[in-house]
Amino acid sequence: MGTRIGVGLLGLGTVGAGVAGILQTPEGRNPLVAELELVRVAVRDLQRPRPIELPNSLLTNDPQAVVDDPAVQVVVEVMGGIEPARTMIMRAIAAGKAVVTANKAVIARHGEEIAAAAAAAGVYVLIEAAVGGGIPIIEPLKQSLGSNRIERVSGIINGTTNYILSRMAQEGVAYEEVLKDAQDLGYAEADPAADVEGLDAADKIAILTGLAFGGPIDRASIPTQGISNLQSRDVDYAKQLGYAVKLLAVAERLNSEVHTSRSLPLSVRVQPTLIPLDHPLAGVNEVNNAILVEGDPIGRVMFYGPGAGAGPTASAVVADILNIAGIRQLGEINGRVDPLLAASSWRACHLVDPSAIRHRNYVRFNADDTPGVIGRIGSCFGERDVSIQSIIQFDASNVGAEIVVITHEISQGQMKDALTAITSLPEIKRLAAHLCCL
Ligand code: NAP
Ligand code: HSE
Repeated sequence: MGTRIGVGLLGLGTVGAGVAGILQTPEGRNPLVAELELVRVAVRDLQRPRPIELPNSLLTNDPQAVVDDPAVQVVVEVMGGIEPARTMIMRAIAAGKAVVTANKAVIARHGEEIAAAAAAAGVYVLIEAAVGGGIPIIEPLKQSLGSNRIERVSGIINGTTNYILSRMAQEGVAYEEVLKDAQDLGYAEADPAADVEGLDAADKIAILTGLAFGGPIDRASIPTQGISNLQSRDVDYAKQLGYAVKLLAVAERLNSEVHTSRSLPLSVRVQPTLIPLDHPLAGVNEVNNAILVEGDPIGRVMFYGPGAGAGPTASAVVADILNIAGIRQLGEINGRVDPLLAASSWRACHLVDPSAIRHRNYVRFNADDTPGVIGRIGSCFGERDVSIQSIIQFDASNVGAEIVVITHEISQGQMKDALTAITSLPEIKRLAAHLCCL
C-alpha cells in the first residue's frame, strides 16, 4: 500500500463520531481504511463530552482551520445546516481538496454551484450518505444504472418519519409521543421540523431527481407535505382498509416516450401516502428506507436498508472517502476526474403544474350522521367525474359520522373542485384528512 491520506472532519456529532469510530478500528475492513488518518476535527463546543476518545490536539472550534490544514486532503463535512457548511465545502474545493458530505440540505440547494466548482478544480465531491443513510443509492444511480432511461424514482427516504409512522401503526400513538425516541436514537435532524414537515425528504428527492433524470430541479418548487398533521386515526383507518401510511417521495417523468424537447417535464413530490399492504414499500418499517428505481431496460429495482443513524451513515461516508483514497493511490486526482463518479448534469428538467398530477386519494370527512349524507358526497364526486373506489362510514360517536372515501386515479385539479363542493354541503363539518393513495 502507499501513502496515508489526511482526513479533516467537520462535525463530531452522530455521524462524525460514527466516521471517527470506523477510522479508529480499521481491523478486518478494507486495507485502505488503515491508510486514512484523522488529522483534524471541528466541533462547535470544545467542552461537550464525546462518545469517542480523540486527542484534544485534534479538536478545534474553527472549521476553516480544518479545511486549511495542509495535512488534510479529504474534507468530510458532517456539521449540517447551510452555513458555514456551504462555505467550507467551496473553500475545500478551491484549495483542490476532495469533499465528502452527508449534508442533503446543502446539496439540494447548492449542488449545481458545488459540482461546477468541483469540475473546474478537478476534485470530487461525493454524497453517498446524503440520501438513504447506509443504503447505496447515489453511486448506483450514477454508475450501475447509468445505461437506463429512468422512468420513476420513489421511496421512503426519511428514517425519522418512517420510525414514527411504524410506531403509530403498531401502537396507535400520536407522532409527538415517538419523535423524542427518534431524536434520542440519532435519527432526527438538529431541527426535527425538517423531518416531520417533509423537508428532509424533499431535499433527498431533489438530489435523486438530478442524478436519475440528468438535470437539476428547483428545490423550492417541490410540493411537500409532512406528517405533522397526520392523525393516528387515519393510520388506523388505512390499516383497516388494507393500507400502510408512509411518507413517500416520488420523482417521475410524465410519459414514457423518449423525450426530445429541451427540458424534461417531471413531477416531484413528497406526501404521506396510503400504500397497499402487498406493495414492497408497505413492509418497510422502523428506521429503514427503501427506494424503488424504475427504468428501461432494467424494470424495477429496490434498494433497502437503514436510512439514518450513526453506523449506517458513517458506513456510506467512509465508503466515499475510500473511493477518493483509491483514486488518489492511482495518482489520478487534481485535474482529471472520472465523469461517472463526478456526475455532472447533462440536460434541463422542470417541474409540471401539480394540479395536473393524477393519483388515487384518501379523504376523511367529519359529518352530521344524517340519512343521505353518503349519497350527497357520492353525487358531488360523480358530478365532477371523480369515480369512487370505496366509501365507508366509521363509528366515531364523538365527532358525528366519520366518512372515508378512496377515489380512483384523478387529477388533483378535479379533486380540489370536488372537495370544495363537498365541504360546502351543510352536513359536512370539515375535511379532516386528505392523503395520496398508491
Ligand atoms: P449532529 O449530531 O447535530 O452533529 C453536528 C456536529 O457538527 C456536532 O459535532 C457539532 O458540534 C458540529 N457543528 C455544527 N455546527 C458547527 C460549526 N459551525 N462549527 C463547528 N462544528 C459545528 O448532526 P448529525 O446527525 O451528525 O448530522 C450531520 C449531517 O449529516 C447533517 O447534514 C445531517 O443532515 C446529515 N445526516 C445525518 C444522518 C443521521 O442519521 N443523523 C444521516 C444522514 C445524513 P457540537 O458537537 O460541539 O455541537
Ligand atoms: N434525519 C434524517 C432521517 C437522517 O431521519 O432520515 C438521515 O438522512
